[in-house]
Amino acid sequence: MEIELSCNSYAFESLTVEPFNAEPPRSALISSYVTPVDFFYKRNHGPIPIVDDIESYYVSICGLIENSKDLFMRDIRMLRKYNITATLQCAGNRRTAMSNVRTVKGVGWDVSAIGNAVWSGAKLADVLELVGIPNLTSVTRSGGKHVEFVSIDKCKEENGGPYKASIPLSQATNPEADVLLAYEMNGEAQYSVVALFLVVWATSCLNPVELTSWLTLNSNAYSKFFLSIIMPKPLNRDHGYPLRVVVPGVIGARSVKWLDTINILAEECQGFFMQKDYKMFPPSVNWDNINWKSRRPLMDFPVQHNTETCWLTVRNLLTRGRECDEAWKADPQLLYNLQAKVSGYAVSGGGRGIERVDISVDGGKNWVEASRYQKTGIPYIADHMSSDKWAWVFFEVIIDIPHSTQIVAKAVDTAANVQPESVETIWNLRGVLNTSWHRVQVRVGHSNM
Ligand code: MTE
Repeated sequence: MEIELSCNSYAFESLTVEPFNAEPPRSALISSYVTPVDFFYKRNHGPIPIVDDIESYYVSICGLIENSKDLFMRDIRMLRKYNITATLQCAGNRRTAMSNVRTVKGVGWDVSAIGNAVWSGAKLADVLELVGIPNLTSVTRSGGKHVEFVSIDKCKEENGGPYKASIPLSQATNPEADVLLAYEMNGEAQYSVVALFLVVWATSCLNPVELTSWLTLNSNAYSKFFLSIIMPKPLNRDHGYPLRVVVPGVIGARSVKWLDTINILAEECQGFFMQKDYKMFPPSVNWDNINWKSRRPLMDFPVQHNTETCWLTVRNLLTRGRECDEAWKADPQLLYNLQAKVSGYAVSGGGRGIERVDISVDGGKNWVEASRYQKTGIPYIADHMSSDKWAWVFFEVIIDIPHSTQIVAKAVDTAANVQPESVETIWNLRGVLNTSWHRVQVRVGHSNM
């Protein structure tokens, strides 16, 4: 059985309903470093499947390996659990700005087809070890070089077949690449007053050893109920319940949801979304002269940023609207005391950190550097072990705004990659990877309040 809409969509700007595609409003996106599930963009190519019998759900691992294997959820949960904070970004993020140059094909995303979550699950490298593929393998003995992920959902681009994508085996077997088979997102525990009461009751009546064995061994209805309220929430259906792939630092299209099969292949996946989509072409290519084979499938995403919020205030003057206008009329010099707070996110693919975010209020002639941060109380140092290497970085600066202007920003990653200035130079017919400088128009003037 399949149904379309399942998410708590109140917070969303729904772009298409079938398949369901939605992004949160700009201001909501950077209200939290870890994006709440309700504010996380949803990108689907077909109807969202329902897996209701978790006991019988399994993932088949097959292809160019000696021994195929079926892994049930309990097998995957037995493996060491990792929590990886990683930003997922659709390759079509900021497509709308690209379509303002010339028409492009695709969902009209604004700037919020991106989100940052704590994904929990088993490392794909550990899973592949179970079928005899050691860490850091780039070719299996039978010639396998790519790992294909095949999903449960079906989409029209695959002529009714499943959504699929692949990554190189060398990446899949590299523990440092942190590729996950994730079964939790943001580890959201469903604590409630009842749950807390039960936890207090159980811990005071049972010693830790008894408690653990009771929780794991007792399969009666009470223990199931108890476990269901104290255990972290599983992945939400929109985001791939019960199991999805998360490939950090790579365009979202390769993080296959609702995983069904892992196939070891000699060549990369031949599916539609690897071969006839999510590729970047030069501006000269159009739908009449396109040669899909001439380009490789997109993997790591380039350095990207977005200026999310921008407010204006008159320095040292706590007035707004009419009061502000009156103060202005009385003292036009106040115009020269205007300040804006500019903030947003910056992120780069491949695990590269953000080295700098520059802000300009004169179209790029002069720049000031914004401060960067991830977690509260921990200074952000790009590429330092205290930083989340796969995650976005927030930035903020308060800057003088002398008149109506365009605020522009650009990010630089740790490999010194800089965002391109104009969207025209990177225009492509599918509207992917719009990483050009983000521009926000600010009008300084009297309000009509
Ligand atoms: N996996 C399946 N099975 N079906 C899909 O349509 N969409 C992909 C990817 N994985 C997709 C999928 C794309 S294009 C993106 S950007 C991400 O999932 C979006 O993940 P999210 O909906 O959890 O944000």
